[in-house]
Amino acid sequence: MKIVLIGAGNVGWHLGHRLRSCGQDVVQVFSRNLLKAKELGEGIQTAFTDHLDEITTSADLYILAVHDDAIEPVAEKLAASGLQEKLIVHTSGATPMSVFAADFKRFGVFYPLQTFTKSRAANFEIIPICIDASLDSDREMLTQLARKISSKVFQITDQERAVLHVAAVFVNNFTNHLFHVGQSVLEREKISFELLLPLIRETVDKLEDGTPGEMQTGPARRGDEETIQRHLRFLEKYPEYQDLYRTLTDSILQHFTNKT
Ligand SMILES: NC(=O)c1ccc[n+]([C@@H]2O[C@H](COP(=O)([O-])OP(=O)(O)OC[C@H]3O[C@@H](n4cnc5c(N)ncnc54)[C@H](OP(=O)(O)O)[C@@H]3O)[C@@H](O)[C@H]2O)c1
Repeated sequence: MKIVLIGAGNVGWHLGHRLRSCGQDVVQVFSRNLLKAKELGEGIQTAFTDHLDEITTSADLYILAVHDDAIEPVAEKLAASGLQEKLIVHTSGATPMSVFAADFKRFGVFYPLQTFTKSRAANFEIIPICIDASLDSDREMLTQLARKISSKVFQITDQERAVLHVAAVFVNNFTNHLFHVGQSVLEREKISFELLLPLIRETVDKLEDGTPGEMQTGPARRGDEETIQRHLRFLEKYPEYQDLYRTLTDSILQHFTNKT
């Protein structure tokens, strides 16, 4: 199957390298930034362009790894340049596949459920790939392709993917933000963030032994009102974090009060 990859950002970069290293035929990459197109194209030894109208019409699959709000306008342009009969997919967790419906009959989703940063290696073998498509035959074809690059392939509907994306924001984006908050407080108090790294790692490693609920510890879990009040008094000098502390504490308290 001949594949064109559109977008050379975090996802485009990793997907391009993974597809290529798994022997898939990526025939061209596009980025509106020529340097990025060149870097990725040369990195995976394939053709590259920064002009949408130079995208080949002879491929079988067009993967859009562009910003969510660029998916629709880029797809419209691709349809107008003669690709409307082709299979087109995006890599977004948050965008319904119907974004393509006005311009394409064959469309779908190829969503790798992981956080990608260009500078960090990605272990695709264990990354869930969520697949959907407007036609059963394309869903099957995309599933087969995904199985070439990952052992975790799931057929997931738009509705399920929307739910997964909300949950992913909680477990990844919000958690990382909380690391940032912790780091920021420590930095202002001139204490090294490094001291927290083993705790951060153990928080995740513990999930091998039980559910997040079972693994919850801390003052809110114990109902230790005295410590909570002491923390809130300390945070008076960081009012931007005081509300956050209160909201998360209330959420934990509520969760465990409702459970018992
Ligand atoms: N990063 C993640 O962890 C992750 C994980 C799973 C899925 N996704 C999804 O994958 C997609 C790409 O995300 P990403 O993290 O790779 O984003 P990114 O690193 O910001 O890269 C996005 C790419 O889209 C291009 N782009 C933006 N607007 C464009 C436009 N109007 N026309 C053409 N190209 C345009 C950018 O070009 P420039 O470089 O020129 O700006 C860049 O190459 C998104 O749908 C995202 O939701 C991301």
